[in-house]
Amino acid sequence: MRTTTLGTKGPQVGVLGLGCMGMSFAYDMAAPRDDDTAIAVLRQALDLGMTLIDTADVYGPFANEELVGRALAGGHRERAVLATKVGLVVTDPTGGPDNSPLFGNNGRPEHIRTSIDASLRRLGTDHVDLYQLHRVDPQVPVEETFGAMAEAVAAGKARHLGLSEATVDEIRRAQSVHPVASVQSEFSLWTRDVQAEVLPYCQDQGIALLPWSPLGQGILTGRFASFDELPEDDFRRRLPRFQQDVLRDNLAIVAQVRTLAERLGATPAQVALAWLMAQGPQVIPIPGTKTPKYLTDNAGAGDLELSATDLAELDALPTPHGGRF
Ligand SMILES: NC(=O)c1ccc[n+]([C@@H]2O[C@H](COP(=O)([O-])OP(=O)(O)OC[C@H]3O[C@@H](n4cnc5c(N)ncnc54)[C@H](OP(=O)(O)O)[C@@H]3O)[C@@H](O)[C@H]2O)c1
Repeated sequence: MRTTTLGTKGPQVGVLGLGCMGMSFAYDMAAPRDDDTAIAVLRQALDLGMTLIDTADVYGPFANEELVGRALAGGHRERAVLATKVGLVVTDPTGGPDNSPLFGNNGRPEHIRTSIDASLRRLGTDHVDLYQLHRVDPQVPVEETFGAMAEAVAAGKARHLGLSEATVDEIRRAQSVHPVASVQSEFSLWTRDVQAEVLPYCQDQGIALLPWSPLGQGILTGRFASFDELPEDDFRRRLPRFQQDVLRDNLAIVAQVRTLAERLGATPAQVALAWLMAQGPQVIPIPGTKTPKYLTDNAGAGDLELSATDLAELDALPTPHGGRF
């Protein structure tokens, strides 16, 4: 796998990373968890050079970090560039639609100070390579939150800092406290909002952009042909773009990705990831999977070069019906 730098001063990472959220959270929650396979997938990602491993304390909550910690035990930690997040908390475990959890922000410095130690304990490590603010808390100046995260760097508990879903103004304010190595934003063939401001700003500043849900929560792989194919107790069943009334139209976009993929002898997932990587040398997608064959498929995107004509065809795809949330 080719490598790139995580921000101007960050470590080398594979041009594709691995998102671990879906190994124990949000998707397919009615199915029994298969931790052994998830652990094997994470180690396989490291073998393939997908070294940036992304988790968060709120995934589970906490279970995902524990799982990642188990996967990295036994000498694998040193092979990974380990990223976790702080600042999103469950406010009500069953208060949302279909008894889903409700989330809130907590960017208070005291929360950050205790959370980093708890994350390190669960991850079985003395430091994370990238500590990211999951959401800016509107009740707490981002300078204060980031200041507490900078204390974690000073204490050797985190090497680099990042933000997630932040505006350019919030990124700038965080930079006034401590260098920002990366920003995570939803970014894929059907969510392109960051192209307006955040991506150009990150490129100008040498900040890595980590697209989350780079496969459009899986839809861009061509794997789902109807709403009924979504697993039971799955977060996507509540997302506007997956609803029955718009899904048929939205799947027409996926069909166009598939047509191009077939022409290139690639898969739709590879095309979706290659398009993202073509947006800049420090655009590092973190596709999520717990399935060995999907991981191999995604890794193949590292070798797929899209021509200017292919990119123009993908740029011209329509936007999907329905908002992100
Ligand atoms: N910063 C944030 O606020 C935020 C928010 C959401 C996610 N994230 C991060 O971003 C990562 C990725 O996002 P995501 O998991 O939401 O969405 P995604 O990567 O766009 O899609 C994941 C889904 O696609 C499926 N999949 C993956 N590769 C496939 C392939 N080659 N063929 C067929 N299906 C495939 C997965 O299946 P299986 O799981 O069944 O293998 C899973 O259902 C997360 O793991 C997390 O680390 C961050």
